[in-house]
Amino acid sequence: MATTHVVSDLPKVGIVGAGQVGSAMAYATIIRGVVPRIAVYDIDEKRVNAQVADLAHGTIYAGAEVTGGADPEVLRDSDIVVITSGAPQRPGQTRLDLADVNAKIIGDIIPKVLNVAPDAIIVIVTNPCDVLTVVGQKISGLPASRIFSTGTSLDTARLRHIIAQRANVRENNVHAEMAGEHGDSEFALWSSATIGLVPIKDWVDDEGNHPFTDDVTTQIAEDVAQAAYHVIEGKGSTNYAIGLSGANLIERLLSNSRTLMPVSSILDDYYGISGVALSVPTLLSNQGVIRAVPTPMSKAERGALDTSAATLKAIISSLGY
Ligand code: 2OP
Repeated sequence: MATTHVVSDLPKVGIVGAGQVGSAMAYATIIRGVVPRIAVYDIDEKRVNAQVADLAHGTIYAGAEVTGGADPEVLRDSDIVVITSGAPQRPGQTRLDLADVNAKIIGDIIPKVLNVAPDAIIVIVTNPCDVLTVVGQKISGLPASRIFSTGTSLDTARLRHIIAQRANVRENNVHAEMAGEHGDSEFALWSSATIGLVPIKDWVDDEGNHPFTDDVTTQIAEDVAQAAYHVIEGKGSTNYAIGLSGANLIERLLSNSRTLMPVSSILDDYYGISGVALSVPTLLSNQGVIRAVPTPMSKAERGALDTSAATLKAIISSLGY
Protein backbone atom coordinates (compact mmCIF):
# COMPACT_ATOMS: atom_id res chain seq x y z
CA MET A 1 0.00 0.00 0.00
CA ALA A 2 1.29 3.50 -0.82
CA THR A 3 2.35 5.60 2.12
CA THR A 4 1.52 9.27 2.37
CA HIS A 5 3.30 12.45 3.35
CA VAL A 6 5.02 12.47 6.74
CA VAL A 7 5.57 15.88 8.36
CA SER A 8 9.32 16.44 8.57
CA ASP A 9 11.90 19.14 7.96
CA LEU A 10 14.39 16.76 6.39
CA PRO A 11 15.29 17.38 2.73
CA LYS A 12 12.87 15.74 0.31
CA VAL A 13 13.10 14.85 -3.35
CA GLY A 14 10.02 14.09 -5.41
CA ILE A 15 10.25 11.92 -8.49
CA VAL A 16 7.42 12.10 -11.00
CA GLY A 17 7.13 8.87 -12.96
CA ALA A 18 7.48 5.34 -11.61
CA GLY A 19 8.64 3.83 -14.89
CA GLN A 20 12.10 2.60 -15.84
CA VAL A 21 13.79 5.98 -15.43
CA GLY A 22 11.96 7.23 -12.34
CA SER A 23 12.43 3.98 -10.44
CA ALA A 24 16.13 3.70 -11.42
CA MET A 25 16.67 7.28 -10.25
CA ALA A 26 14.88 6.61 -6.97
CA TYR A 27 17.00 3.49 -6.47
CA ALA A 28 20.26 5.29 -7.30
CA THR A 29 19.28 8.14 -4.99
CA ILE A 30 18.59 5.70 -2.15
CA ILE A 31 21.75 3.63 -2.46
CA ARG A 32 23.98 6.69 -2.84
CA GLY A 33 22.46 8.10 0.35
CA VAL A 34 21.67 11.37 -1.38
CA VAL A 35 18.57 12.46 0.53
CA PRO A 36 16.64 11.22 3.60
CA ARG A 37 13.17 11.46 2.02
CA ILE A 38 12.09 10.38 -1.45
CA ALA A 39 8.54 10.49 -2.79
CA VAL A 40 7.49 8.88 -6.07
CA TYR A 41 4.34 10.01 -7.88
CA ASP A 42 2.73 8.41 -10.93
CA ILE A 43 -0.83 8.41 -12.28
CA ASP A 44 -0.60 4.61 -12.60
CA GLU A 45 -1.56 3.69 -9.04
CA LYS A 46 -0.81 0.00 -9.31
CA ARG A 47 2.65 0.59 -10.72
CA VAL A 48 3.64 3.36 -8.34
CA ASN A 49 2.49 1.45 -5.29
CA ALA A 50 4.46 -1.59 -6.40
CA GLN A 51 7.61 0.44 -7.09
CA VAL A 52 7.35 2.27 -3.76
CA ALA A 53 6.83 -0.98 -1.88
CA ASP A 54 9.76 -2.65 -3.63
CA LEU A 55 12.06 0.32 -2.93
CA ALA A 56 10.88 0.68 0.66
CA HIS A 57 11.43 -3.02 1.39
CA GLY A 58 15.15 -2.45 0.79
CA THR A 59 15.62 0.76 2.73
CA ILE A 60 16.73 -1.18 5.82
CA TYR A 61 20.03 -1.47 3.94
CA ALA A 62 20.21 2.16 2.82
CA GLY A 63 18.26 4.40 5.15
CA ALA A 64 16.04 6.73 3.11
CA GLU A 65 12.31 7.00 3.74
CA VAL A 66 10.40 6.18 0.54
CA THR A 67 6.80 7.24 0.12
CA GLY A 68 4.59 7.68 -2.91
CA GLY A 69 1.34 7.08 -4.69
CA ALA A 70 -1.02 8.29 -7.39
CA ASP A 71 -1.96 11.54 -5.65
CA PRO A 72 0.35 14.53 -6.32
CA GLU A 73 -0.04 15.30 -2.61
CA VAL A 74 2.80 12.82 -2.01
CA LEU A 75 5.16 15.45 -3.48
CA ARG A 76 4.17 18.11 -0.93
CA ASP A 77 7.06 20.27 0.27
CA SER A 78 9.67 18.59 -1.94
CA ASP A 79 12.84 20.64 -2.25
CA ILE A 80 13.53 19.22 -5.69
CA VAL A 81 11.08 17.54 -8.08
CA VAL A 82 12.49 15.52 -10.94
CA ILE A 83 10.08 14.85 -13.81
CA THR A 84 10.69 11.60 -15.66
CA SER A 85 7.23 10.68 -16.92
CA GLY A 86 6.21 10.74 -20.55
CA ALA A 87 6.17 8.65 -23.68
CA PRO A 88 9.48 6.78 -23.87
CA GLN A 89 11.74 6.78 -26.93
CA ARG A 90 11.15 3.64 -29.01
CA PRO A 91 13.67 2.04 -31.38
CA GLY A 92 13.84 4.22 -34.51
CA GLN A 93 12.53 7.36 -32.79
CA THR A 94 14.58 10.44 -31.97
CA ARG A 95 14.03 12.32 -28.72
CA LEU A 96 12.55 15.22 -30.71
CA ASP A 97 9.83 12.88 -32.08
CA LEU A 98 8.39 12.87 -28.55
CA ALA A 99 8.00 16.66 -28.30
CA ASP A 100 4.30 16.93 -29.04
CA VAL A 101 3.02 14.18 -26.77
CA ASN A 102 5.40 14.90 -23.91
CA ALA A 103 4.78 18.68 -23.99
CA LYS A 104 1.15 17.90 -23.15
CA ILE A 105 2.22 15.62 -20.30
CA ILE A 106 4.59 18.26 -18.87
CA GLY A 107 1.84 20.87 -19.21
CA ASP A 108 -0.44 18.68 -17.11
CA ILE A 109 2.14 17.77 -14.44
CA ILE A 110 3.85 21.06 -13.67
CA PRO A 111 0.83 22.89 -12.20
CA LYS A 112 0.11 19.84 -10.02
CA VAL A 113 3.69 19.83 -8.76
CA LEU A 114 3.76 23.55 -8.01
CA ASN A 115 0.43 23.30 -6.22
CA VAL A 116 2.03 21.14 -3.51
CA ALA A 117 5.70 22.13 -3.81
CA PRO A 118 5.65 25.81 -4.82
CA ASP A 119 9.28 26.41 -3.84
CA ALA A 120 10.78 23.31 -5.45
CA ILE A 121 13.56 23.27 -8.00
CA ILE A 122 12.15 21.44 -11.03
CA VAL A 123 14.46 19.16 -13.01
CA ILE A 124 13.17 17.89 -16.34
CA VAL A 125 14.40 14.47 -17.49
CA THR A 126 11.51 13.63 -19.85
CA ASN A 127 12.57 13.97 -23.48
CA PRO A 128 13.11 16.08 -25.41
CA CYS A 129 14.35 17.58 -22.15
CA ASP A 130 15.71 20.83 -23.62
CA VAL A 131 12.43 21.59 -25.38
CA LEU A 132 10.34 20.60 -22.36
CA THR A 133 12.39 22.89 -20.10
CA VAL A 134 11.22 25.85 -22.18
CA VAL A 135 7.64 24.53 -22.25
CA GLY A 136 7.70 24.01 -18.47
CA GLN A 137 9.10 27.48 -17.83
CA LYS A 138 6.47 29.13 -20.05
CA ILE A 139 3.66 27.22 -18.38
CA SER A 140 4.87 27.88 -14.84
CA GLY A 141 6.42 31.34 -15.13
CA LEU A 142 9.23 30.07 -12.88
CA PRO A 143 12.57 31.86 -13.07
CA ALA A 144 14.98 30.02 -15.37
CA SER A 145 17.16 29.33 -12.32
CA ARG A 146 14.50 26.99 -10.91
CA ILE A 147 13.55 24.89 -13.94
CA PHE A 148 16.19 23.17 -16.00
CA SER A 149 17.10 19.78 -17.35
CA THR A 150 19.69 17.05 -16.84
CA GLY A 151 20.62 17.86 -20.46
CA THR A 152 24.01 16.52 -21.51
CA SER A 153 25.15 15.56 -18.00
CA LEU A 154 24.36 11.97 -19.00
CA ASP A 155 26.12 12.29 -22.37
CA THR A 156 29.09 13.79 -20.53
CA ALA A 157 29.25 10.71 -18.31
CA ARG A 158 29.24 8.59 -21.48
CA LEU A 159 31.96 10.73 -23.03
CA ARG A 160 34.21 10.55 -19.98
CA HIS A 161 33.69 6.80 -19.79
CA ILE A 162 34.71 6.24 -23.40
CA ILE A 163 37.74 8.55 -23.18
CA ALA A 164 38.85 6.93 -19.91
CA GLN A 165 38.68 3.46 -21.46
CA ARG A 166 40.65 4.61 -24.50
CA ALA A 167 43.29 6.39 -22.39
CA ASN A 168 43.30 3.64 -19.74
CA VAL A 169 42.87 6.10 -16.86
CA ARG A 170 40.19 6.68 -14.23
CA GLU A 171 37.08 8.53 -15.39
CA ASN A 172 37.74 11.16 -12.69
CA ASN A 173 40.94 12.11 -14.52
CA VAL A 174 39.02 12.95 -17.70
CA HIS A 175 37.79 16.53 -17.93
CA ALA A 176 35.56 16.77 -20.97
CA GLU A 177 31.95 17.71 -21.58
CA MET A 178 29.21 17.28 -24.13
CA ALA A 179 27.22 20.44 -24.90
CA GLY A 180 24.18 21.58 -26.90
CA GLU A 181 21.02 19.53 -27.36
CA HIS A 182 20.59 16.33 -25.37
CA GLY A 183 20.07 14.65 -28.70
CA ASP A 184 21.37 14.26 -32.21
CA SER A 185 22.94 17.72 -32.57
CA GLU A 186 24.98 17.48 -29.36
CA PHE A 187 28.75 17.93 -29.59
CA ALA A 188 31.91 17.51 -27.50
CA LEU A 189 33.87 20.50 -26.24
CA TRP A 190 37.14 19.01 -27.46
CA SER A 191 38.97 22.34 -27.41
CA SER A 192 38.86 22.38 -23.62
CA ALA A 193 39.08 18.61 -22.95
CA THR A 194 41.99 17.38 -20.86
CA ILE A 195 43.22 14.17 -19.27
CA GLY A 196 44.72 15.29 -16.02
CA LEU A 197 46.24 18.60 -17.07
CA VAL A 198 47.12 17.43 -20.59
CA PRO A 199 45.05 18.76 -23.51
CA ILE A 200 43.42 15.67 -24.98
CA LYS A 201 45.11 15.94 -28.40
CA ASP A 202 48.50 16.00 -26.64
CA TRP A 203 47.81 12.91 -24.52
CA VAL A 204 50.51 10.27 -24.99
CA ASP A 205 49.71 6.61 -24.28
CA ASP A 206 52.00 3.97 -22.73
CA GLU A 207 53.44 3.17 -26.18
CA GLY A 208 54.29 6.81 -26.89
CA ASN A 209 51.46 7.38 -29.37
CA HIS A 210 48.88 10.19 -29.52
CA PRO A 211 45.61 8.19 -29.52
CA PHE A 212 43.19 11.13 -29.74
CA THR A 213 43.52 12.03 -33.40
CA ASP A 214 40.79 14.03 -35.17
CA ASP A 215 39.32 10.82 -36.59
CA VAL A 216 39.21 9.23 -33.15
CA THR A 217 37.59 12.21 -31.42
CA THR A 218 35.01 12.50 -34.21
CA GLN A 219 34.17 8.82 -33.75
CA ILE A 220 33.97 9.16 -29.96
CA ALA A 221 31.51 12.07 -30.19
CA GLU A 222 29.44 10.07 -32.67
CA ASP A 223 29.48 7.04 -30.34
CA VAL A 224 28.25 9.22 -27.46
CA ALA A 225 25.42 10.63 -29.58
CA GLN A 226 24.45 7.11 -30.65
CA ALA A 227 24.83 5.48 -27.23
CA ALA A 228 21.18 5.73 -26.16
CA TYR A 229 20.00 4.36 -29.53
CA HIS A 230 22.09 1.22 -29.04
CA VAL A 231 20.88 0.69 -25.48
CA ILE A 232 17.24 1.23 -26.51
CA GLU A 233 17.68 -1.22 -29.40
CA GLY A 234 19.05 -3.82 -27.02
CA LYS A 235 16.83 -3.49 -23.94
CA GLY A 236 13.97 -1.13 -24.82
CA SER A 237 15.05 1.88 -22.77
CA THR A 238 17.95 3.50 -20.99
CA ASN A 239 17.56 3.76 -17.24
CA TYR A 240 20.60 2.96 -15.07
CA ALA A 241 22.96 5.68 -16.32
CA ILE A 242 20.27 8.38 -16.27
CA GLY A 243 19.27 7.14 -12.80
CA LEU A 244 22.82 7.62 -11.51
CA SER A 245 23.27 10.84 -13.41
CA GLY A 246 20.08 12.28 -11.89
CA ALA A 247 21.08 11.11 -8.40
CA ASN A 248 24.42 12.87 -8.83
CA LEU A 249 22.66 16.09 -9.88
CA ILE A 250 20.27 15.87 -6.90
CA GLU A 251 23.20 15.33 -4.54
CA ARG A 252 25.02 18.36 -5.87
CA LEU A 253 21.90 20.56 -5.73
CA LEU A 254 21.25 19.62 -2.11
CA SER A 255 24.80 20.34 -1.03
CA ASN A 256 25.79 23.80 0.15
CA SER A 257 28.66 24.11 -2.28
CA ARG A 258 28.59 25.73 -5.71
CA THR A 259 29.27 23.17 -8.41
CA LEU A 260 29.85 23.12 -12.17
CA MET A 261 27.97 20.69 -14.39
CA PRO A 262 26.68 20.59 -17.95
CA VAL A 263 22.91 20.97 -17.52
CA SER A 264 20.37 22.51 -19.85
CA SER A 265 18.92 25.84 -18.73
CA ILE A 266 17.27 28.63 -20.67
CA LEU A 267 20.11 30.76 -21.95
CA ASP A 268 20.20 34.53 -21.84
CA ASP A 269 22.67 35.93 -24.36
CA TYR A 270 25.11 33.03 -24.10
CA TYR A 271 27.29 33.55 -27.18
CA GLY A 272 24.29 35.52 -28.48
CA ILE A 273 21.80 32.68 -27.82
CA SER A 274 18.67 33.45 -25.76
CA GLY A 275 15.31 31.88 -25.01
CA VAL A 276 16.29 28.27 -25.68
CA ALA A 277 17.50 25.66 -23.18
CA LEU A 278 20.85 24.13 -24.11
CA SER A 279 23.55 22.39 -22.11
CA VAL A 280 26.72 24.34 -21.45
CA PRO A 281 28.97 24.34 -18.38
CA THR A 282 26.68 25.71 -15.68
CA LEU A 283 27.22 26.88 -12.11
CA LEU A 284 24.66 25.37 -9.70
CA SER A 285 23.83 25.74 -6.03
CA ASN A 286 21.01 24.70 -3.73
CA GLN A 287 19.07 27.62 -5.28
CA GLY A 288 19.32 26.04 -8.75
CA VAL A 289 21.15 27.58 -11.71
CA ILE A 290 23.39 30.49 -10.78
CA ARG A 291 24.58 31.06 -14.35
CA ALA A 292 25.72 29.46 -17.57
CA VAL A 293 29.49 29.88 -17.46
CA PRO A 294 31.12 31.53 -20.48
CA THR A 295 33.46 28.82 -21.74
CA PRO A 296 36.01 29.19 -24.53
CA MET A 297 34.82 27.36 -27.66
CA SER A 298 36.42 26.79 -31.03
CA LYS A 299 34.71 28.18 -34.13
CA ALA A 300 33.36 24.70 -34.92
CA GLU A 301 31.99 24.33 -31.39
CA ARG A 302 30.32 27.75 -31.58
CA GLY A 303 28.78 26.68 -34.89
CA ALA A 304 27.53 23.43 -33.35
CA LEU A 305 25.98 25.35 -30.45
CA ASP A 306 24.15 27.59 -32.96
CA THR A 307 22.93 24.49 -34.83
CA SER A 308 21.56 22.95 -31.62
CA ALA A 309 19.86 26.27 -30.76
CA ALA A 310 18.25 26.55 -34.21
CA THR A 311 17.07 22.91 -34.10
CA LEU A 312 15.45 23.33 -30.71
CA LYS A 313 13.95 26.74 -31.47
CA ALA A 314 12.19 25.27 -34.51
CA ILE A 315 10.62 22.50 -32.40
CA ILE A 316 9.61 24.92 -29.64
CA SER A 317 7.85 27.22 -32.07
CA SER A 318 6.17 24.26 -33.82
CA LEU A 319 4.64 23.48 -30.41
CA GLY A 320 3.31 27.05 -30.20
CA TYR A 321 5.64 28.27 -27.43
C1 2OP B 1 19.32 8.76 -22.87
O1 2OP B 1 20.16 9.46 -23.42
C2 2OP B 1 17.16 8.25 -23.87
O2 2OP B 1 17.69 10.45 -23.30
C3 2OP B 1 17.87 9.12 -22.94
O3 2OP B 1 19.64 7.73 -22.28
